[in-house]
Amino acid sequence: MVKIVALVGSLRKESYNGYLAKAMQYRYQDRIDFEIADIASLPFYNQDEELNPPQVVKDFKKKVAEADGVIIITPEYNWSVPGVLKNALDWLSRVDKVLINKPVMTAGASPTALGTVRCQLHLRQILSSPGISARVLPPAGNEVLVNFAQNKFDKSGKLTDEGTLEFLDGIMDKFLDWIG
Ligand SMILES: Cc1cc2nc3c(=O)[nH]c(=O)nc-3n(C[C@H](O)[C@H](O)[C@H](O)COP(=O)(O)O)c2cc1C
Repeated sequence: MVKIVALVGSLRKESYNGYLAKAMQYRYQDRIDFEIADIASLPFYNQDEELNPPQVVKDFKKKVAEADGVIIITPEYNWSVPGVLKNALDWLSRVDKVLINKPVMTAGASPTALGTVRCQLHLRQILSSPGISARVLPPAGNEVLVNFAQNKFDKSGKLTDEGTLEFLDGIMDKFLDWIG
């Protein structure tokens, strides 16, 4: 089974992005060992600590290193990526640089029309930086954007929009094929 680690850029309980991560975890459970990483427990990145970081950071980096791929599912905050996600990526970008050449797929949900598109552009730029150099699912545009999210999940957080599920299935097939 393919091992995927998901990084979710929102910490709130009723997060659409958290719901999207759980929808993927459930929908592809026969094909993917899908773990949602706990990035809320990571301390703020500190270069003084990077050579011997807290155990929680070591465990997180190991998990990502051992994954076949990473899926980043994030809201857009102020036209960019939330700090909690950037913090996780900064830890991953240093010392053993566990994201280099790692297959990565990106996704985002928002209640607005643009569905995190500005954040996705920043995210791609960050993922191209020398310390990260991830292999983001090509071509650009192969990302899962869920706009008007309030209409696509039910009250319990279940992704119910058929068009979105179909789109998600298509991109997930491409990602799994591409991981190989
Ligand atoms: C600090 C902050 C900044 C935000 N900035 C943007 C933004 O730039 N673009 C946007 O579409 N939505 C923005 N929003 C609204 C989020 O899209 C919305 O709160 C969304 O539900 C957050 O994702 P979540 O449901 O996964 O927590 C912002 C929300 C917060 C809390």
